[in-house]
Amino acid sequence: MDSVKIGIIGGAGHIGLVHAACFAALGYHTVAHDLKSATLKNIAKGKLPFHEPGLSELVNSSLENGRLLFTDQMNHLKDADVVYICVGTPPLPDDRADISQVEHAVEDLARIIQKEVVLVQKSTVPVGTARKIFTHLSQEALAEKIHLVSNPEFLAEGSAVEDFWHPDRIVIGSKHLEEADKVAFLYNPPGVPVVKTSWENAELIKHASNALLATRISYINEIARLCEKVGGDIRSISRGVGLDNRIGPHFLEAGVGFSGPCLEKDLRSLLSQFYQRGEEAPLLKSVLFINQQQRYLLVKKLEKHLGGLEGKRVGVLGLSFKPGTDDLRDSHSLPVIETLLSRGAEVTAHDPMVVHSSRAEWFNILFPSVKLVHSVQLAAEGSDALAILTAWPEYRELDLLKLKESMVNPVIVDGRNLFYPKILRGGGIKYEGVGI
Ligand code: UGA
Repeated sequence: MDSVKIGIIGGAGHIGLVHAACFAALGYHTVAHDLKSATLKNIAKGKLPFHEPGLSELVNSSLENGRLLFTDQMNHLKDADVVYICVGTPPLPDDRADISQVEHAVEDLARIIQKEVVLVQKSTVPVGTARKIFTHLSQEALAEKIHLVSNPEFLAEGSAVEDFWHPDRIVIGSKHLEEADKVAFLYNPPGVPVVKTSWENAELIKHASNALLATRISYINEIARLCEKVGGDIRSISRGVGLDNRIGPHFLEAGVGFSGPCLEKDLRSLLSQFYQRGEEAPLLKSVLFINQQQRYLLVKKLEKHLGGLEGKRVGVLGLSFKPGTDDLRDSHSLPVIETLLSRGAEVTAHDPMVVHSSRAEWFNILFPSVKLVHSVQLAAEGSDALAILTAWPEYRELDLLKLKESMVNPVIVDGRNLFYPKILRGGGIKYEGVGI
């Protein structure tokens, strides 16, 4: 392993940094390149740009033993055996994924590489991207030197390091089997299924996976709406449905909907891939529509209990798009807060991780009128309602009956179904969840 050198382009990002740290921990000499020099300096001092369980320990130990190097000089990748592209593919205004960073990465590498290299495309890209890059490399007479492989990532934030060590599967799209074998060998995953396939299939597997996860969430949220009308409990229904082995229990938690930097962006990109080919995708369109509605249903519940939001004080519990991360990118909490403010509410917000992270600064700039507080108690004090938006484990432990004493109105709208309505309603709280 010592003889294999791995390069990571986009090494300071979520996917790049996790891969860099894990490959270094596997014993490979790993060089993580990124253009963000200031971020790299911080990482080298042990200060990571985001929270990811287990990551900082891995980065620090690999920095100490010299297996991991951070650089803003592409030249340091010139003798790499395998280079991973882990750059962003942000959405364009028409929802297509912007692959310009991927294209630049290929060009930058092509300029400096001094030997044959396997170039692994990790970033989530529209189907056809690998073939487009290959055509470009062929035109530049580089296709024999740069061997392109599509190897989508399936890391979820908050468990990314764990997901790297224990993947459900590894998907590798390549032109030649030999290249796929080389990449599979790097992970060395005993007992993990490896799907060796074409570039196009690999690119589509990634999109189809994220879109199916999103579909399950919108599906259960749709059933949750009927539950509310008939006095059902969606949690019991999810359990009953998910115990069918053909269905399985995952991604059947009803709530305020999916958010974060991946599921919605990838779903929109997939839709645009249909449209570009003159195709409609009514199912996926509905998945997105239901998810958009889900946030506003929560605001509607607050309005119903408070008789409008003008002048009302709402304590928002949870800002990150899911527990275990301080990531606010495309979090559902942002449009919810925006809507509350636009309807005249005064908002106080709490999040156990964001409040202590650098993301707090960003949040304060985005919402200067929102007070970010250090405890749930402070968010509840003098509030007309609480809105739970993220399923942080510590919120489950809250004594809402006690908390209610500091509120003006005992209204709690729970977008994550963390509590049992009967007990709370019996205790005088106007409690509403999603489908319960
Ligand atoms: C997602 C996929 O799960 C990863 O496999 C994929 O690699 C990643 O996107 C990516 O494309 O990079 P992630 O966005 O980190 O990972 O988070 P998820 O765990 O998928 O959660 C997404 C959203 O769905 C969160 O807002 C979460 O609260 C919500 N969710 C999840 C529900 O509302 N209900 C559920 O049952 C599960």
